[in-house]
Amino acid sequence: MSIHPAWLPPCAFLAGRRVLVDSDHPLADTVREEVIRAGGILTPHADLTFTAGPAGDAFTLTGDRVAADGPRGMIYGLFELARGGAAGRHEPSFERRMIDHWDNVDVHPVMGQVERGYSGGSIFWKDGVLRGDLGRVRDYARLLAAAGINAVTINNVNVHAAEARLLTDRRDEVVTLAREFRHFGIVTHLSINFAAPVILGDLPTADPLDPHVRQWWATIANSLCEDISDFGGFLVKADSEGQPGPFTYGRSHAEGANMLAAALAPHGGVVHWRAFVYNHRQDWRDRTTDRARAAYDHFAPLDGLFADNVIVQVKHGPIDFQTREPLSPVLTAMPSTRLAVELQVTQEYTGQQKHVCYLAPMWKEVLDSVHGDLTAVSNVGDDRYWTGHPLAQANLYAAGRLAWNPDPTAVLDEWMTLTFPEAPSELRTVLHRIMDRSWLTYEKYTAPLGIGFMVRPGHHYGPDVDGYEYTPWGTYHFADRDGVGVDRTSATGTAFAAQYPHSRYESTATCPDELLLFFHHVPYTHVLHSGSTVIQHIYDTHFDGVTEVESMLAAWQEASSLVDPDLHARVASRLDEQLRSATEWRDQMNTYFYRKSGIPDTHGRRIH
Ligand code: GCU
Repeated sequence: MSIHPAWLPPCAFLAGRRVLVDSDHPLADTVREEVIRAGGILTPHADLTFTAGPAGDAFTLTGDRVAADGPRGMIYGLFELARGGAAGRHEPSFERRMIDHWDNVDVHPVMGQVERGYSGGSIFWKDGVLRGDLGRVRDYARLLAAAGINAVTINNVNVHAAEARLLTDRRDEVVTLAREFRHFGIVTHLSINFAAPVILGDLPTADPLDPHVRQWWATIANSLCEDISDFGGFLVKADSEGQPGPFTYGRSHAEGANMLAAALAPHGGVVHWRAFVYNHRQDWRDRTTDRARAAYDHFAPLDGLFADNVIVQVKHGPIDFQTREPLSPVLTAMPSTRLAVELQVTQEYTGQQKHVCYLAPMWKEVLDSVHGDLTAVSNVGDDRYWTGHPLAQANLYAAGRLAWNPDPTAVLDEWMTLTFPEAPSELRTVLHRIMDRSWLTYEKYTAPLGIGFMVRPGHHYGPDVDGYEYTPWGTYHFADRDGVGVDRTSATGTAFAAQYPHSRYESTATCPDELLLFFHHVPYTHVLHSGSTVIQHIYDTHFDGVTEVESMLAAWQEASSLVDPDLHARVASRLDEQLRSATEWRDQMNTYFYRKSGIPDTHGRRIH
């Protein structure tokens, strides 16, 4: 079965056009290939001219010209024209826009090949080796470029034995992938294992202050950057969920990161050092330890101590990619440190690409408040639709494009234009009905008022209200017969709320309803700003959420004659599963909270 082209068929607008690409940069050849592929004519007497300045990704479109600040801007200008983009200046609000793959070379016994992957195996590796035919990787690079992405990390942040060797004796594979990505202006980065000097180098220690360790990394970086002249740098998950790190040697995260930064600095490379550091072996009886506090407690005191080429990479929320979280306070607490915000395109906690959940509206709220690098965990695999659920492609597209166009609905519209170029307006209407508010629908039947993690432990799919309640993972809801929620106030709780420069979250009077239970433990009868009580809100949103999924299914039936039958069938079967799962969520959640609280639904609907 053929691979779905996703959002980028040939650039049809070029057919018959006379085009001059007036640059001798290698990326000019990429643009020329696109022109020829689409039936355009390369000629000095052109009605469309591409030019490139020395550096930068921005470009200006006029009727007959793409004037790019730097070579990459020619590619971005080309794709802007393909989606019928407007004349004028186009500029990204994030300089580096990076997709992080959680791909393993081998199939991991628990996580599979792509950790938290819901779209099949890796598009890079198969049966433990790099794929022979990299045509799909080339297509993928083209898709990413059309979404405005300019960097990629090719392997999982949890770096296992085989993947650690990408740094050394398996480096050829990185060199080969970097060549494919470079063709579309995308720079390649690598996740590394902090203990590599011990694992690969036979050194007795990975202490970042040890001169032999520092020399080992410098030598590695030198040869790596010789093999890949535009190598981007390292991504590091250290002292997190069992990964090795500087704490083993009594060193700080700044000392660990700066050691790697020193090795890369002569070559212009950077270190993305993740702030996802917390105690994953805490005692659930201990009410003072709060996982939400951890990233700030570890990293805010280090502000100003990181080298210039270290970028601290921070998950957008303080816990872990839940359906609703406040912005991580780390993102506004380190003015003297370069930061990257990390989004999760792969839908680990938002329906695992079985449920429609267009995440751009959530990300927009995040991106409006932060600056630095934008990084996002990929949702792509070797599935013929790339992302399992065909509509989940829109999330990958949006992860890049939101840096250029902050309007989630407009970005969705662009995705439709490129993905279904022949689409009648009825299809757009149906897709907007299904997708525009799908994140809010998902929130309704899963995660009321900012409470997260009521998922089945391990795989994280489907409801299990108490699944994590008595575990060491630090993800609790504290429901009892009187109330629910986590007290994170300074007055009576863990004082996480005090990590913000404002006091909005400290009081129930000012805390927004959608985050109430993230910050407060309240009685079920607590009255929300909406006028409803907490318990009635739980019942209402769960009933509404299922009704909304039923409407999505009905809308998709209307599209049956408007799209390819195979694509229609794939989406329809996923919507069936979404409805089954949403019903299960509704019934488990409502039953659980009814049994805890003893308070009936005011509308007398069926609760088990
Ligand atoms: C989550 C996810 C893990 C992942 C981790 C991370 O906890 O479940 O699979 O490794 O995030 O971001 O490092």
